[in-house]
Amino acid sequence: MKKIVAIIFFAVAMLSCASKSCAQDFAINHGPYLQAVGENEATIVWTTTRPAVSWVEMAPAGKESFYAEEHTKYFETKNGNRVVNQLHKIHIAGLEKGTEYRYRIFSKEVTSYEGKRVIYGKIACTDVFRSAPLRFATSDSGKDRVSFSMVCDIHAHADTLRALLKDIRYGTTDMVFFNGDMVSSVESEQQFFDGFMQPAIDLFAKEVPVFYTRGNHETRGKFSAQFTDYFASNSGKLYYSFRQGPVFFIVLDGGEDKPDSDIEYSELACFDQYRTEQQHWLDQVLKTPECLSAAFRVVIIHIPPYGTDWHGARDIREKFVPLLNKARIDVMLCGHMHSYSYIEPIAGKLNFPILINAANTRLDVTADKDNLIIKDMDTKGVMLNSHDIKRH
Ligand SMILES: [Fe+2]
Repeated sequence: MKKIVAIIFFAVAMLSCASKSCAQDFAINHGPYLQAVGENEATIVWTTTRPAVSWVEMAPAGKESFYAEEHTKYFETKNGNRVVNQLHKIHIAGLEKGTEYRYRIFSKEVTSYEGKRVIYGKIACTDVFRSAPLRFATSDSGKDRVSFSMVCDIHAHADTLRALLKDIRYGTTDMVFFNGDMVSSVESEQQFFDGFMQPAIDLFAKEVPVFYTRGNHETRGKFSAQFTDYFASNSGKLYYSFRQGPVFFIVLDGGEDKPDSDIEYSELACFDQYRTEQQHWLDQVLKTPECLSAAFRVVIIHIPPYGTDWHGARDIREKFVPLLNKARIDVMLCGHMHSYSYIEPIAGKLNFPILINAANTRLDVTADKDNLIIKDMDTKGVMLNSHDIKRH
């Protein structure tokens, strides 16, 4: 008996030691994932277990070995310094539109940084020998067709997210939108990855870009301010616009749903002012040639202006809808309500339809120059509703 106890004790001690050394190893622990992929740029994000200097190496598409020649290195810099951090967010500019690229990420551990003396440790990187290099394609406003999916209100139910997004593939889906409330409040980096981002990375986000729209629940929690650093956009804000093929996308941040003074926000909310800031931006964006020349204009915002009468929805109705009513919007895609509904235009008030996605369904959207087709899909792949929106 004593011998068995000793063996078990030894095995537990060895396992504990192994897991500790594993936890202490320098490694890429989350990512990479693609952000803000545009016609001429992309941002690649990942994290490491300890501080590091990081870079991305890019290669053209094709079957030539990644080792065939040296590649340009893209570093994250801030005011001329290469950044030492555990969150790595590398912006790559100067890309060609509508072009596939292959990429590899590297992080070199910084074990000590005092004055001018920097000591480096191990290097962690993605594999290009046993598996194919990662890839992505830049967008192209001249592309004939666009295909995207949208989910929302996952509230950290990672299994639902996996079931909804298991078939997202590079080459089939151009991008995925996370339309808010992916977690119920934002407390830590770990929760951000466990709640929704790590499943997305495992399934597709290394090769298919994720575009993030903030939900009202993600404005809450002690990590809510840092949380936004894990995303990138072409405006540097959580509201932004971009063109892909025949569609001009306008992403708005609906902010909180109750008045800023509500006791639930503990005096930390300032969303009326934030929505006014977006109103001014939106007014300008809707006049751009990129927007005016698109076959379709799609608005993505978490809180719908109709279907709820709380303060956030009212403020969106007052500040955004009058501008959007004049801009030939084809559809607004929302979440927040946790159940599906399709709100038809309302004479004199709303000039476009609003589609509210449920918490356990996915919208699959394809558009060419004549039609924008939306399919509402459940976790088993059954289509529940569909809409065919004709060009204005
Ligand atoms: Fe919500």
